[in-house]
Amino acid sequence: MKKIVIIISALSGFLFAQTAQELINQNGCFACHSVASKKTAPAFAGIGMRNKHFNGSNAKVVIMNSIKYGSKGKYPMFANKTMPAFKNLSQKNLSILADYILEQSSKAQCNGKRGQGMSKKVIRQ
Ligand code: HEC
Repeated sequence: MKKIVIIISALSGFLFAQTAQELINQNGCFACHSVASKKTAPAFAGIGMRNKHFNGSNAKVVIMNSIKYGSKGKYPMFANKTMPAFKNLSQKNLSILADYILEQSSKAQCNGKRGQGMSKKVIRQ
């Protein structure tokens, strides 16, 4: 019986999906990002908006890959900064994070099609 309890509790980490908020906290995303204002990295709201605008139906895949492999040079305002790779995250967790980031696009402080943390140059590309 004891063994079963141990096995169940070990499996629960895999069986129950984590929320985006938990993943963000565990991986320290808010050290650089915030939801709707720029920090040392673009806001999730602006990232969601930019990717919807430029990548359409591929937006989610692009975001998942950027989290997994890192990113540099996409956002001119942060040209000297690098997004680190998070290769430890499963595809499922990358998907949860990407959905959350895309949902935040409604919070972007728009100026035309511009989101927070985006420059005019980005939107004209
Ligand atoms: C050390 C600082 C730092 C941390 C920690 C960090 N990021 Fe980033 N992130 C950046 C920077 C800087 C950029 C802008 C990169 C660029 O210009 O291409 C960025 C860009 C992004 C993008 C946009 C990529 C694109 O293709 O548009 C996403 C999505 C993202 N980060 C998600 C996350 C998530 C999720 C976490 C936590 C798991 C995280 N970041 C942790 C610094 C960070």
